[in-house]
Amino acid sequence: MSSTEASSGGTRRQLRSETWYEGPEYYNFARRAYLRSEGLTREAFHGKPLIGICNSWSELNHCNIHLRELAEAVKRGVWAAGGVPLEFPTISLGEVFIRPTAMLLRNLMAMDVEESIRCNPVDGVVLLCGCDKTTPAQLMGAASADVPSLFVTGGPMLSGNYRGEWKGSGTDGRKMFDLFRSGSLSQEELNEFEGCMARSHGHCMVMGTASTMTSIAEALGMTLPGCAAIPAPDSRRKAIAEQSGRRIVEMVWEDLRPTRIMTREALENAITVDMAIGGSTNAVVHLLALAGRLGLPLTLDDFHRISARTPYLVNVKPSGEYLMEEFFYAGGVPAVMREILPLLHGEALSVTGRTIAENVAAAPCHNRDVIRERAQPLSPEGGTLVLYGNLAPDGAVLKHTAASTHLLEHRGPALVFEDHHAMILELERDDLPVDENTVLVLRNGGPKGGPGFPEWGHIPMPKRLLQRGVMDMVRISDARMSGTSFGTVVLHIAPESAIGGPLAAVRTGDIISLSASQRRIDVELDDVELARRLRDFVPPPAHYSRGYGKMFLDHVTQANEGCDFDFLRALPPTEA
Ligand code: FES
Repeated sequence: MSSTEASSGGTRRQLRSETWYEGPEYYNFARRAYLRSEGLTREAFHGKPLIGICNSWSELNHCNIHLRELAEAVKRGVWAAGGVPLEFPTISLGEVFIRPTAMLLRNLMAMDVEESIRCNPVDGVVLLCGCDKTTPAQLMGAASADVPSLFVTGGPMLSGNYRGEWKGSGTDGRKMFDLFRSGSLSQEELNEFEGCMARSHGHCMVMGTASTMTSIAEALGMTLPGCAAIPAPDSRRKAIAEQSGRRIVEMVWEDLRPTRIMTREALENAITVDMAIGGSTNAVVHLLALAGRLGLPLTLDDFHRISARTPYLVNVKPSGEYLMEEFFYAGGVPAVMREILPLLHGEALSVTGRTIAENVAAAPCHNRDVIRERAQPLSPEGGTLVLYGNLAPDGAVLKHTAASTHLLEHRGPALVFEDHHAMILELERDDLPVDENTVLVLRNGGPKGGPGFPEWGHIPMPKRLLQRGVMDMVRISDARMSGTSFGTVVLHIAPESAIGGPLAAVRTGDIISLSASQRRIDVELDDVELARRLRDFVPPPAHYSRGYGKMFLDHVTQANEGCDFDFLRALPPTEA
């Protein structure tokens, strides 16, 4: 963009939006006229940054239901700083409502965000997100559009409470539901709990995917410091939204774009924070996709390397004991980043215009049981392990901090399921041939096989074992699991079974071996037998023959590549 003389006498960049409405053509005039149809005077927008507010509000997404209110706070800040706010919607992804999985539509939302920014007269964007897939979709879209961008996350719900006990959405919901399945909780008690788990607007308040991805947005430098953990109903969330509105106007004049902030160093910072907070395994997929959008090299080996050197510090469910509210009171992401600053690229730039080291230099920690010191971690290694082996030549992941220690080194016979829905019914059988040594294996849960890479990887415990008091066993699949889930579950096995990955060769009775210490997941078959079985592989029928679903199947990449569409990777060479 060229510089032009500003009316104040200094020099300033020509605003991007001015290329829409300043000029000699009819449409320059028409755009001014139609902007004025919104009740704006010409003076109100002339020479001022137009700030898009990209809103994922939807009544089909309870986690983001308050984002219209938050947008009003952003607008206050934008007006106060001399900008003009223009709110616009995109599709939203309600994690628990969308079938077969919100992940099927993450790339669609990212495309919506990218094109809504690219194709409109906005000089900067404030993006409002919260529920699981809305944050990565907006990060991906903003990265590709590369217009100055700042994120305001919606914040976690208030802590759940049932009969005086704090309960986390997702995590405790699953535990209570298993108690109901095993007969230890009555229908009436379950009904009562149903009204206690999600007490307010906001996203799930454990360190599930939503809290992980909003923490990662902060770690990347894409939010104002401290944004991620503020509870959704807390007045300080509106205050930070207003501050964000002020700051985006300055960012426009500084031309502070996502590609200046989301560098390779920032991605490594995000992974390091992810490991320290015991973040969701889904962060692996989303960060790989984001790196692809930015044209930056990132592989599972980077997660492997960073996990090994990063202590796990944040004592929040599902890996720990507390909930996001306590994490906020303890100091939130800035306190974590200060604690692990020697492991971070402190010189990485953030939306404040300062480095992340400067942002967190004085960040206090108010509760060392919630955010541990680096010298006294909950685990010396990060929350997510990357596994390889003859079942996962391109990798798999295991959230070892949410697994059972006694199962992290395990050998056992496989019980194989081809179909998720049939499996759910089978797991209720009183005569299911399982014991605590069995390894449950689910196929056809990957990006193409699911389809859409559903959260089927947290295979429910067989009712027969629950009734015996067995609460965990080894479960493996090419699916994902909710960030709120827990257990000894190996996920994201790549390549997936539906395209002939080795998981397709496993038969009931084969011995599966898991070694977290060796970072291995294997089936005890020699290479010749494995290859012989895979020669007979017949792919399952495709789920879609038209529309977005077909585009997804034709272009989605595998888990170890981030599951973005192949044609969306890397930055466009020039802006249209
Ligand atoms: Fe939206 Fe959990 S359902 S974050």
